[in-house]
Amino acid sequence: MTTQTDTTDAATAQTDIRRVGVVGGGLMGSGIAEVCAEAGCDVVVAETDEAAAQRALRRITRSLDRGVSRGKVSAGDAAAALGRVRVVAGLDALADRDLVVEAVVEDEQAKVDVFAALDRVVERSDAVLASNTSSIPIMKIAMATRRPEYVVGMHYFNPVPVLKLVELVPSLLTGGETVRRAQSFAETALHKQVIHCRDRAGFVVNALLVPYLLSAVRMLESGYATAEDIDTGMVQGCAHPMGPLRLTDLIGLDTTKAIAESLYAEFKEPLYAPPPLLSRMVDAGLLGKKSGRGFYAYA
Ligand SMILES: NC(=O)c1ccc[n+]([C@@H]2O[C@H](COP(=O)([O-])OP(=O)(O)OC[C@H]3O[C@@H](n4cnc5c(N)ncnc54)[C@H](O)[C@@H]3O)[C@@H](O)[C@H]2O)c1
Repeated sequence: MTTQTDTTDAATAQTDIRRVGVVGGGLMGSGIAEVCAEAGCDVVVAETDEAAAQRALRRITRSLDRGVSRGKVSAGDAAAALGRVRVVAGLDALADRDLVVEAVVEDEQAKVDVFAALDRVVERSDAVLASNTSSIPIMKIAMATRRPEYVVGMHYFNPVPVLKLVELVPSLLTGGETVRRAQSFAETALHKQVIHCRDRAGFVVNALLVPYLLSAVRMLESGYATAEDIDTGMVQGCAHPMGPLRLTDLIGLDTTKAIAESLYAEFKEPLYAPPPLLSRMVDAGLLGKKSGRGFYAYA
């Protein structure tokens, strides 16, 4: 239980985190790397191979360029931020990190493998090992290490440079000091808004959001309304910035399905079960914006 005083203390404390590692430089990892670099941290992004590392660097570069063209950041600051980012293949370059944020695919075994490797590689014994998982219990990930007291859920939102929220999720074994350091970093270095949640699949936001997205897919699947009308209904009728199907495209249909499966595995409630249309679209490689086609087509 966090009190108002705890929150205020964390917000004013100096963060001891300067060297950040990010595992996985996809949609989320590249955004996390970008905001950490903009905050002045030295950032290493670890990908599976050199080609994926270069793709991650291109994503970060494009996003910083967008920030410059929108007047959000000066060209000089963007170049300086990019200069603080190194992309590498493999995890060895993460040895000297103070904080590592894992953002690989939403797959329990993939995350367990990454945390077992981080446990071997990261030298600072009190380094914070964080997962950006949307729905996999932190306890399962933490038990892959010999230091579960330093493992915490640190769930960012897409797009990371725009959305302010971070959900902080301690497992039963996470130390209070680990939570305090992660919170202090998110608030003082990244200027994020932190909320706390128990270690339950989906945390706060996805436990509420994902059943809504799945309902929209079921509505489309049953012929109830078109994708455009479902989305227009929620944009114009509820003032949402985008409709549920376009949002599913943005999140990624594969990621949405994986989150739904974790929620279903945890709670066994039919509302969390991925609808067949979502599964078939993932089978077909129609993953949304990142693959060029989902419920909508992208140029
Ligand atoms: N997409 C969203 O809107 C969103 C929002 C919040 C959290 N998340 C979570 O963030 C995580 C990543 O999601 P994403 O949308 O960025 O996925 P993504 O598919 O865009 O990126 C995943 C990246 O991880 C890399 N990767 C896979 N295995 C790796 C390994 N062993 N070592 C290094 N890199 C590896 C892949 O090459 C890929 O670039 C997931 O846990 C997801 O649930 C996603």
